[in-house]
Amino acid sequence: MRRRASVLLLVGAAAAACTGGRDLTGKWVVERALGPEGGSPAAAPPGGAPPEGPAGPPGGGPMMDAVLEVQQDGTALTGTMITHMFDLPISKGTVRGSELSFVMSIELGARKMEIPFTGRRVDGQIELTARPPAGMPPMRVLLRRASEEEVLRRAGATPERIAPPQVQPLTDNGLARTPPMGWNSWNCFHLDISDAKIREIADALVKTGMRDAGYRYLVIDDGWQGKRDDSGVLHPTARFPDMRALADYVHGKGLKLGIYSSPGHRTCGNQEGSYGHEEQDARMFAGWGIDYLKYDWCGAFRIYKNEEMQAVYQKMGSILRQTGRPIVYGLCQYGLADVWKWGPDAGGNLWRTTGDIADTWESMEEIGFGQHELARWAGPGHWNDPDMLEVGNGGMTQAEYRTHMSLWSLLAAPLLAGNDLRTMSRETLELLTNPEVIAIDQDPLGRQGQRASQEGKAEVWAKPLADGRVAAGLFNRGGVTASVTARWVDLGLHGRVRVRDAWARKDLGAFADSFTVEVPPHGAALVVLKGGGRT
Ligand code: GLA
Repeated sequence: MRRRASVLLLVGAAAAACTGGRDLTGKWVVERALGPEGGSPAAAPPGGAPPEGPAGPPGGGPMMDAVLEVQQDGTALTGTMITHMFDLPISKGTVRGSELSFVMSIELGARKMEIPFTGRRVDGQIELTARPPAGMPPMRVLLRRASEEEVLRRAGATPERIAPPQVQPLTDNGLARTPPMGWNSWNCFHLDISDAKIREIADALVKTGMRDAGYRYLVIDDGWQGKRDDSGVLHPTARFPDMRALADYVHGKGLKLGIYSSPGHRTCGNQEGSYGHEEQDARMFAGWGIDYLKYDWCGAFRIYKNEEMQAVYQKMGSILRQTGRPIVYGLCQYGLADVWKWGPDAGGNLWRTTGDIADTWESMEEIGFGQHELARWAGPGHWNDPDMLEVGNGGMTQAEYRTHMSLWSLLAAPLLAGNDLRTMSRETLELLTNPEVIAIDQDPLGRQGQRASQEGKAEVWAKPLADGRVAAGLFNRGGVTASVTARWVDLGLHGRVRVRDAWARKDLGAFADSFTVEVPPHGAALVVLKGGGRT
């Protein structure tokens, strides 16, 4: 074990001693989450887990377990945010009286992000506010000085490296001929999940008609894990008393069950990962009756280089095949290392192409409209995954959620709902279950749509369908109602083309040359075009 964290702590403690502890030098941990500025403090989350998502991708509880290590020299502040996944440098740090500020940098492949923090000292503690870019939730926490034991418990120690296998392409496992559809617990429940909740969601999938609309995979994301025992068996937390029985229940409803783990020692939510126990865990999952695995890089950042991702993912890919159980394999490494180029060789049926989605227009817009270049890598059995749906979670307008759903369908994206199905509104259910919209996503040709034209804030995206028709989305990314025109010439069509409105499930007639529609702010029209022939 590399006891990095403890070495750093000793350095920090020594520095604090020299300065008499009056300055900020030392290590700080999150005491609890605070409410929004000016609001009342939030309740302390269980086990240090956050009530909200993170202040930066990839998400989850990690920032709540982060250790802030700083050195103060006069008004200058330098240091590092240490997490179980990586060390994030801080820069531009200043201290003026009781006020402090710094910038934390996150680098995920080509994606670089700077998150400004401001804080103030209050009674020997620090109130710290992160201001992440638009689309990510702000975070406000109370920090206190940490003991060595706490630093290790939170940021953890990096385990010894196990060499990954030789790269050797795996063959197609025959699953996911159309993009996987289902529900995943992360977007609405984060780590706060239990057997009871999952059963209620299974019931809701059936009762609401979601299952019959195609949503088959019920995926338990991060937060089900308890402790690994001396023989290496990973036990679920007490909130999941019997996984086999839960799987039976879910299967009894005509659904399939998915689960989550990491090739790292820790998951993104700082739970136990499968590192060094891959076979044991995979055999256990298969024994429970698991049908889908989401495998999230997270702690593996501390162990492997990004260039080793293919080999590391292949390791689990081949182990899953050896279980003999058909298990859909979802890679989650935020689109690093051009995963679309090797995802299928590593055994993947889908792979995330981006950082975590948030329930905001900015986040969904940036991700959804950023997928154009990746279209050629998707097809039956192997899909680009621009992350799960936020439809119904409350952070966007109906028009924005309609754009979300229209775009994801055109992208042949996996459709994993992420809202609380037990309490969703009729409007949300209608957005999620429109059969003609789902048919576009699930079209057997399996082509991912692309941008066909763009004029200012107006964009047309098109997806060829198996029967020769073309699905087209007419999007208005602007803040005021606008006309959007789809021109046949841009879509490889000519002559009179029959237009069907997929959302309204209504034929609109035949149009020569083009079709124009008024689209509300951030809204979408979704049409299916027939006839005229492809040019
Ligand atoms: C990462 C993933 C999310 C979710 C969380 C769980 O952030 O990208 O989808 O699985 O981890 O901690």
